[in-house]
Amino acid sequence: MRTTLRDLQRMKDQGERIAMITAYDYPSARLADRAGAAMLLVGDSLGMVVHGHSTTLPVTLDDMVRHSAAVVRGAEQALVVGDLPFLTYASDAEAVASARRLMQEAGVQAVKLEGGAPVASSVRRLTELGVPVMGHLGFTPQAQHQLGLRVQGKDAAGARRLLEDALLLEASGAFAVVLELVPAPLAEAVTRRLRIPTIGIGAGAGCDGQVQVWHDLLGLDDGKTPRHAKRYADIGAAIGTALKAYVGDVRAGAFPTAAQSSTMEEAELAAALGEVH
Ligand code: KIV
Repeated sequence: MRTTLRDLQRMKDQGERIAMITAYDYPSARLADRAGAAMLLVGDSLGMVVHGHSTTLPVTLDDMVRHSAAVVRGAEQALVVGDLPFLTYASDAEAVASARRLMQEAGVQAVKLEGGAPVASSVRRLTELGVPVMGHLGFTPQAQHQLGLRVQGKDAAGARRLLEDALLLEASGAFAVVLELVPAPLAEAVTRRLRIPTIGIGAGAGCDGQVQVWHDLLGLDDGKTPRHAKRYADIGAAIGTALKAYVGDVRAGAFPTAAQSSTMEEAELAAALGEVH
């Protein structure tokens, strides 16, 4: 059975932590789903970790639809959340049109958008229309040229604004809020004040759940693991070793062998070669 919004609320109410992982394609979705993640996020971080951009800003709705559809095909249990990319929800109407594509064409079960007060009316409109919306506060990567890449809400005014934004998103119908790069005590206080779950990334252990980027968890980040991430495996090194062995085998004529090849009747080959000059 796929995770529902009701399950997520029950998990918060019963103090059960929520694990969320980003996924960008069919194999990553299958693995994260089978590992028991309650939610998969098709993050617009794919602009950086999959497409090699330096920010999330170049990511298009077409990119998100294509990647999200692959993730949806790989996820049997987890609720799949798709990010609305930069400037695809600048008005309520645009938010509805963008969410329509992610839900109808890709099949995600929910969308995520960044920001507080400026997006509250879009969150309200989407949820009125039956679209589950996850909020995203703190460091919001789509606004990184305004914010700088740093922890948000460290002073009283910023912390107050973040709490008010979180309460506003909840009142507007969001089913959960990501808190990214937020001081742990603030994230914990916001978590206590909200009825809906908070999902932290770089926001300490006091959130109701955590989300991490696939490449950071698995050592596929070229050694640039952010401080808020923990590397659970060094798959990048394992892939490097395997690929070097393959390249070496090809160069040495050691791959393929008879085991990876097929054969045919000699007479058939002779007959074929005899007819072609
Ligand atoms: O795009 C993404 O992966 C995200 C997470 C960092 C929360 O928004």
